[in-house]
Amino acid sequence: MIITIDGPAGSGKSTAARKLAAHLEIPYLDTGAMYRAIAHLAIEAGIPTTDQEALVRLTEEAELWLDCGPTHTRVQANGHDVSEAIRTMAVSQTTSPIARIQQIREILVGKQRAIGRKLGSFVTEGRDQGSVVFKDLADVRFVVDADIDKRAERRYQELLADGEDVSLDEVRENLSARDANDCQQWAPLLEPGQSIRIDTTSMTLAEVVECLESHIKEAVGS
Ligand code: DC
Repeated sequence: MIITIDGPAGSGKSTAARKLAAHLEIPYLDTGAMYRAIAHLAIEAGIPTTDQEALVRLTEEAELWLDCGPTHTRVQANGHDVSEAIRTMAVSQTTSPIARIQQIREILVGKQRAIGRKLGSFVTEGRDQGSVVFKDLADVRFVVDADIDKRAERRYQELLADGEDVSLDEVRENLSARDANDCQQWAPLLEPGQSIRIDTTSMTLAEVVECLESHIKEAVGS
């Protein structure tokens, strides 16, 4: 079974996807982690986001390895564990322009499909999983969203817990800037009949997971 979950940062989709995968006892593919790992490598190598050629070369040569849990995700880039390093605000800011480079998307989409073939059944989460990467293979496709204030608050709490020194306003601005680019990826899923949309603004995590599961049961008829 292949379940895709797309939507903006802070919508609660990552946590819900991980929980859903654990309930279904299948792996969880965090595709944002792959874009983040490339951004992390670019920062380490001192490559600016304007140098597309160097960034594409870096991506072609990068050895990414993901442990897809489902209860945890570990990420290695060129032999180093970067699982925590890829979650900083600096990496988030660098990831968005990098994720806009089409050649980089194509390389990572290829890697995601290869991982998907190995996994067989999985929950995958990102921006283009239902619209591009597993468009024809997915059993159920979701778009998970929430209003910007709620998303900013969630992301802010996560960053604070990670010890980052940021303000709520900075997080909100960062999310709005990323939304403008990121939403293009899942726009096709907003067409009627293309996905199941869930607004998590006033839902708890348990309610979101329950809602996802009930839609899956309905869709696959079990
Ligand atoms: O979900 P996240 O915050 O970890 O994603 C990090 C960045 O990568 C974000 O700017 C969106 C981008 N991304 C993407 O363009 N396509 C994906 N499949 C996953 C993430």
